[in-house]
Amino acid sequence: MQLYIGGLSEGITEDEVTTFFSKIGTVERVRVIKDISGKSRGFAIVRMPNNAEGEEAIKKLNGLMLAGRRVQIGRMHETLPGEMEFREWLRDNAHQVLEKVGVSSGQTVLDFGCGPGLFSIASAIIVGHRGKVYALDVHPDALEHLRKAASRKGLDNIETMLLDRSTVSIELDNDTVDVVLLYDVLQEIPDKLGLLKELHRILKRGGLLSVFPMHLGTDKFLTMINPLGLFQFRERYGPPELQSASEVINFTK
Ligand SMILES: C[S@@+](CC[C@H](N)C(=O)[O-])C[C@H]1O[C@@H](n2cnc3c(N)ncnc32)[C@H](O)[C@@H]1O
Repeated sequence: MQLYIGGLSEGITEDEVTTFFSKIGTVERVRVIKDISGKSRGFAIVRMPNNAEGEEAIKKLNGLMLAGRRVQIGRMHETLPGEMEFREWLRDNAHQVLEKVGVSSGQTVLDFGCGPGLFSIASAIIVGHRGKVYALDVHPDALEHLRKAASRKGLDNIETMLLDRSTVSIELDNDTVDVVLLYDVLQEIPDKLGLLKELHRILKRGGLLSVFPMHLGTDKFLTMINPLGLFQFRERYGPPELQSASEVINFTK
């Protein structure tokens, strides 16, 4: 089982995290996620081979102190090799990546599964006051966080939309969006093909679908989207030095 531990101190080591979880059971691997300067980002990924011990770790260790910090522990989706590093790189380079992907001034962007809005905010800055960003999520708290962050930055071109998990339908007209961002979210959508069809409906002809298929991997995602015949593959994008199982993949309608 793969677990997430958050709330860690900047100087935390993998050995300290391993010792903490070893009180409960066998720890196969610990990876403290770091920024480019080598400082911990405050969280780590822990793999415990025995699921029962993983569940026990969540029950017994969540909320305890480690190296002077109260930690949060939860279950997380399995990640592919290099994927977390790619995700962190994407987060550090959101603005540049979106520009490279093709987001530009005056466009309408839809960020599906926007979470707290890292990519919505970066898009809103790029599209400017002549453009618009629709930020969609099923979590009201994430959208509230995003609205506050946008207001602190003086951005008034983001419209949040609270979705219902039971449907993939989006209340926008056909052919109205220039760019759809689908970053690190498909793994949470049961009706993936239904969602891709809905995104195709709202995209303008020639519009861009940009996907970061975290947890699925590029190959699995391409096998899913290609037979649909709705989108034309345009390019894959990622820094070669990361050699990640995942990338940003762009398609046009
Ligand atoms: C791992 S987060 C990624 C957030 C953001 N895209 C990013 O990369 O920083 C996945 C997000 O998808 C949202 N989500 C899950 N199911 C969804 C659904 N059916 N419709 C819209 N958003 C959904 C979750 O609430 C969560 O905010």
